[in-house]
Amino acid sequence: MAEVVRHIGLSLGADICWPLCFEAIMRELDLRIPVGGDTVRFEVERVTIEPFDLRQPCKYDLVVDRLTHWYHTSREWIKKAILMDDLYVFNNPWSVQANEKHTTYCAMMQLGMPIPETWMVPPKSYEPNPDLKPTLTRYAKLFDVSKLGDRLGWPMFMKPYDGGGWRGVTKVDDTNALWKAYEESGKSVMHIQAGVNGFDRFVRCIGFGPQTHCVLYDPDAPLHDRYTTKTEFMTKAEEEHLRKVTLTINSFFGWEFNSCESLRRDGIWHPIDFANPCPDSQVTSLHGHFPWLVKAYVRWVVFCAATKRKMRKNQDWSPFYEVAALDLPYEEKLSRYAAIADERFETARFEEFCAKHLGHLDEVAWSFFGTNGAKDAVRQKVTALFPPHEVERFTELFWSRIQDWRGAPTR
Ligand SMILES: Nc1ncnc2c1ncn2[C@@H]1O[C@H](COP(=O)(O)OP(=O)(O)OP(=O)(O)O)[C@@H](O)[C@H]1O
Ligand SMILES: [Mg+2]
Repeated sequence: MAEVVRHIGLSLGADICWPLCFEAIMRELDLRIPVGGDTVRFEVERVTIEPFDLRQPCKYDLVVDRLTHWYHTSREWIKKAILMDDLYVFNNPWSVQANEKHTTYCAMMQLGMPIPETWMVPPKSYEPNPDLKPTLTRYAKLFDVSKLGDRLGWPMFMKPYDGGGWRGVTKVDDTNALWKAYEESGKSVMHIQAGVNGFDRFVRCIGFGPQTHCVLYDPDAPLHDRYTTKTEFMTKAEEEHLRKVTLTINSFFGWEFNSCESLRRDGIWHPIDFANPCPDSQVTSLHGHFPWLVKAYVRWVVFCAATKRKMRKNQDWSPFYEVAALDLPYEEKLSRYAAIADERFETARFEEFCAKHLGHLDEVAWSFFGTNGAKDAVRQKVTALFPPHEVERFTELFWSRIQDWRGAPTR
C-alpha cells in the first residue's frame, strides 16, 4: 500500500481568516484516506506569484483560487495548468472570466427562473476611439432612459451589467433620480432592473460543490450584520427550492463556489444576484456562518483531491436547455435541473465519502473554533479591516457569534 500525497494550493489575495482556519483544521485532521490501494495524504500550501515557463510542470493536484476575477497573472497560470497539467481548480477560470452578471440573468431567464425584468442600456460616455463617432452616428438610437423607468415601475435598480460588491448600484425612485444615476454611470454598461418591491425575505444561499447554506440577509444593516443569525425564517421546502436554484446556477456555469441572492415576494423566490463566483468568505461578514464555510471548503477540497475527480473543463449547457424546452411547470423543471447538478457534483458519492472519511470533521472544527489559534485568525482579519480602536470590540463580537454557533444544538 503506497502513501501518496495530494498537493493543495491556495491562490489567495486579501484572504486572511479562512485560509488560517482551513490550514489548521487540515493539520489537525491529518487525513490518511484509503483510495484504490493507496493511502492518500494532503499537503496544503499557498501559491506564490512569480514568472513561469508555459511548459513548466505544476506540483498541485487542486487549487482553490480567489484571484482569477481580478489578478490576471494567476488566472493565466491556472489556465495553463488546467490545459497542460490536468489541474483541478475552483472555479473554472474561463467561466469566471466569461460569465458576468448579464450572462447569468440571460441563461437563468431562459431556464424559466423568475428574474425581474431587466434592460441593458448603452453607456453614457466612452473612451475615445476613431471608430466611435461613425458607429454611434450611424447606429445609436436616441432614447429616453426615463421611459424605461416608467415601464419597469418605481423604485427600480440601476447597476453595472458585470457588477459585484454593490459597485455602482443605485436604487432609483423617480425620473430625476434615474437621469442622475445614468449621468453618473459614466463609461459603465448598465442594467436597469425592476425592483422586487415589497419582498418579505432576502436570502443568500452559499453553494460549495453540492453543499448549500441559506442565510437570511439584511441589505440595510451595516456590513457586519448583513448576514443575520436568524434561524427558521423559511420552510424546509423553500430551503430545498433555493438549494436547487443555487446548484442549478453553479453547475450550469461550472462554478464550485458561488452565492445566490433571492428575494421572496408573494411566496415566489426571485433570484436577483447570482454571479458571485468568488463568494465572500470572511469572518467579518460571515461571523457565525464562518465555521460552516470553512468546513465546506475542507470537505469539497478533500473529496475532489482524494478521488481525483476530473474537472469539467467545458461547459455543457445542452442538457439544461433540453429540460427548459419541455412543457413542464417551473418547479418540475427545477427538479430536473437540480438532478443534472447533483450528477455533476456527484452529490450521493460525496455524501457517502464524507460519512466514511470525514465523520470526525464536525468535532475537530468544533474544538478548533474554541482555540486561541481560531481567535487569532479572527483578530487578524478584523485588524486588517477595522480602525485600531474598533479591533477589540469587533474581534469579540465575531468571536462571540462563533461561540454561539458552538453552543447551538443544530450546528
Ligand atoms: N431587483 C432588485 N429588487 C430589489 N432589490 C434589489 C434589486 N437589485 C438589487 N437590489 C438591492 O441592491 C443590492 C445590490 O445589488 P446586487 O446584489 O445586484 O449588486 P452586487 O454589486 O452584485 O452586490 P454583491 O455585493 O451582493 O455582489 C442588493 O443586495 C439588493 O439589496
Ligand atoms: Mg448582491
